Amino acid sequence: MDIEKVNSMDFGEFVDVFGNVIERCPLIAAAVWSQRPFSGLEDLEKHFFAFIDALPPSGQEGILRCHPDLAGRELLRGALTAESLREQSGAGLTSLGAAERLRLAELNAQYRARFGFPFVLAARLRGREAVPRELARRLQCPPAQELRAALAEVKKIGRLRLADLLAGHPAPR
Ligand code: GUN
Repeated sequence: MDIEKVNSMDFGEFVDVFGNVIERCPLIAAAVWSQRPFSGLEDLEKHFFAFIDALPPSGQEGILRCHPDLAGRELLRGALTAESLREQSGAGLTSLGAAERLRLAELNAQYRARFGFPFVLAARLRGREAVPRELARRLQCPPAQELRAALAEVKKIGRLRLADLLAGHPAPR
């Protein structure tokens, strides 16, 4: 899809197509639509990220809380978004053994208890071994630093999702 096509979308189509660039936050795509026309992928991305950066910490934490745990309950229940399923499956997280899944569940729970939001990592850019390692490492970080690290991962995920959409590879529904 080229940028002219993006710029020609009405509100409903734009939110349908870009509503999950930031996981379960279609409001962000709804706000970004008002900023059109976009000059290209980077410009479009800039508007998504500027919205996130302009939020107070409570709103930024809200974005993180819209993410499912990696290899968590939603995956087991088949309740992931198409994009998250593709990313988790690409990272090998849909085929963990029972012991690995349990270890991740414990780390995810410790992370949530410490920071109040789920652990977010651009899983597609890392292998399945990196997930528990990164989780254990980030559990030790001070909260303000961890909020910044988690939002940086949200942006990496969004960048990959946008690039897929513009390259014509939407997540299968
Ligand atoms: N990394 C890529 N997709 C996701 C997701 O849906 N949830 C979390 N926690 N991390 C991700």
